[in-house]
Amino acid sequence: MSFVWSEKYRPKSFDDMIGQASTVQGVKALVEKGSLPHVLFTGPPGVGKSTLALVIAKKLFGSNWKENFLELNASDERGIDVVRNKVKDFARTKGFDAKFKVIFLDECDALTREAQQALRRTMENFTNSCRFILSCNYVARIIDPIQSRCVVYRFAPLAKQDIESLIDRIAQSESLQVDQGAKDALFEASAGDCRRAVNLLQACADSPKITKDSVNKLARLAQVQGIPALLALALKGDIVGAKKQIVDMLAQGISATELIKQVDQQAATLATPDAIRITQYCGDCEFRLVQGSDELIQLGWLLAKIAQLRA
Ligand SMILES: Nc1ncnc2c1ncn2[C@@H]1O[C@H](COP(=O)(O)OP(=O)(O)OP(=O)(O)O)[C@@H](O)[C@H]1O
Ligand SMILES: [Mg+2]
Repeated sequence: MSFVWSEKYRPKSFDDMIGQASTVQGVKALVEKGSLPHVLFTGPPGVGKSTLALVIAKKLFGSNWKENFLELNASDERGIDVVRNKVKDFARTKGFDAKFKVIFLDECDALTREAQQALRRTMENFTNSCRFILSCNYVARIIDPIQSRCVVYRFAPLAKQDIESLIDRIAQSESLQVDQGAKDALFEASAGDCRRAVNLLQACADSPKITKDSVNKLARLAQVQGIPALLALALKGDIVGAKKQIVDMLAQGISATELIKQVDQQAATLATPDAIRITQYCGDCEFRLVQGSDELIQLGWLLAKIAQLRA
């Protein structure tokens, strides 16, 4: 049993899934008939995409699920070779007591266009023996020929009542007391991301009584360190220094959109008219990322715009 609660409390069946009702119902109906088209899951982090893929595999294959299910992370093994080799090797052999196998390709939006073209051909060639579950944060980054071969399911950030029921579920099992103020704070800090809500709850669980203050204290600590320094560098016009810091932050696994959100929040504390401009730039930058632009270039653009405010 995992000590990390986000693993310990990862739903194991369709009925354990919280929220995402139409997606879960749609997928469940297919899987219960023993069939599965290629599917594409899209949505923000921590809302159940990988979890649902695992539930599908377990439901389809029972105790043989590990033999018939291949999980690859596209962003770890970025490029064309992973699609050509690993996927083909796995797709080529027959399923273990199963009509077809399932390949779960996480973070597909990190695949280059060439890799996506190769993936598309692989999907065509092995449709009889293999079904694909693709997962991404930004559907706009997935080439049309792949989108059109998949049933697309959208995952939304979880609603407040959903995050609360997740908290209640864990609180009961871990004998924690979580008052309403703490639940409000957990939801706010999570922004509908279950993983973040669960991690924060676990971090607060040193004491069995969880309050709004303890949540807020930890939520602030968990905020990306170094955002004030980053903003200060940009406002000073030190683009080189600021860019270096951004590269470090991305390397720590902080997402570009997360960075933008936090720059925006930090800017709001500036109490100058610049705050409004920075908010506009953050909005523009986030929009372009969703459209599929390069992260580093867009973050560089954001820094440059902020630096120009000095003039
Ligand atoms: N719908 C949900 N119901 C209950 N728990 C959930 C749900 N979605 C996520 N969780 C919790 O959050 C954790 C992370 O979820 P998951 O790995 O499915 O996220 P994801 O959508 O694949 O995110 P990413 O885009 O970062 O890969 C799970 O282990 C589980 O504990
Ligand atoms: Mg995932």
